[in-house]
Amino acid sequence: MRSLIAGTGSYAPEKIVTNADLEKLVDTNDQWIVERTGIRERHVVADDQATSDLALEASRRALDAAGLDAKDVEMIVVGTVTPDYPFPSVGAVLQGKLGNRKAFAFDVSAACAGSLYALSVADRFVATGAVKNALVVGADALTRITDWTDRNTCILFGDGAGAMVLKPTDDPQRGIRAVRLHTDGSLVPILLQPGGGSRDPISEKVVREKSHYVKMNGREVFKVAVRSLEESCREVLADEKLTPGDVTWVIAHQANKRILDATLHRLEIPESKCWMNLEKYGNTSAASVPMTLDEANRAGWLKPGDTVLMMAIGGGMAWGASVVRW
Ligand code: ACO
Repeated sequence: MRSLIAGTGSYAPEKIVTNADLEKLVDTNDQWIVERTGIRERHVVADDQATSDLALEASRRALDAAGLDAKDVEMIVVGTVTPDYPFPSVGAVLQGKLGNRKAFAFDVSAACAGSLYALSVADRFVATGAVKNALVVGADALTRITDWTDRNTCILFGDGAGAMVLKPTDDPQRGIRAVRLHTDGSLVPILLQPGGGSRDPISEKVVREKSHYVKMNGREVFKVAVRSLEESCREVLADEKLTPGDVTWVIAHQANKRILDATLHRLEIPESKCWMNLEKYGNTSAASVPMTLDEANRAGWLKPGDTVLMMAIGGGMAWGASVVRW
């Protein structure tokens, strides 16, 4: 038995911040941002919204698409690094908001790779028959931990949520085929939120030094991202005895258009096979992969039997790839 993605959903908050808006906040310009990243605008949470609110909307849409009643969900896994509270988990908050009392629920912290990690965990539970279904969510409000005076980072991030419902299938032609995950903890310093955790709890000093915001060495992240994504894609394709030429569609974490272009170029996969939406949303962290998957799915891109290559990378560094037969 394998697990099958039986429904997808996504949600982006209403408020939009354009590159022109950012020009008023930091020394940047639309042309630089578009040329270096491909991003034109991003959605940002309202003052009264938190990550679980985004997750709830995306989950409702995915459950609706899968024809599954929220009360019948047996497992909830949320990839996020911007939980509503340090604890309990967004998964627990989401379970409560869905009116579900049956599912065990928890979060997975793997930054922008969070939804791929969450998918891999839930896949094991569904494929082994331990649960009859699972709700997998990637949701982040990264703009809550973004320094709007730091032009290195504030141009990149946006908020959103994506959800996937997993069900078991006996169809040998369909389902999640292979997942490869990797972590390199020696790279923690190149992308992290240094303050506000147990190492440096929130304090006047943390706020003064702005260490509760995302810090990033963009050039290093860029290099690691291209190399790691290519390697894990080749690895997961080899697991399935496939080549890049066998891939029907690519669903990739929308970090930066140049990272995606370089990775696709190395894999010799045409750009036309990769659904891109970072122009509208920026980098939405763990939400990025399931939001992209949902857009491609609702646009009618994905047909039963298609070979979908999914890839993501984020702070840790944590990355991975998956082959899914739709
Ligand atoms: N607006 C205008 N100019 C800028 C800006 C800005 N927002 N930011 C930097 N510059 C300037 C720099 O000061 C520098 O000027 P100089 O040449 O006079 O010194 C010049 O532009 C080039 O700066 P670089 O940092 O070399 O620019 P780079 O081409 O590396 O682009 C970027 C920066 C977009 C951050 C890139 O490194 C990148 O995308 N890295 C990946 C980061 C990423 O995707 N992180 C997301 C989280 S992790 C993940 O999802 C994979």
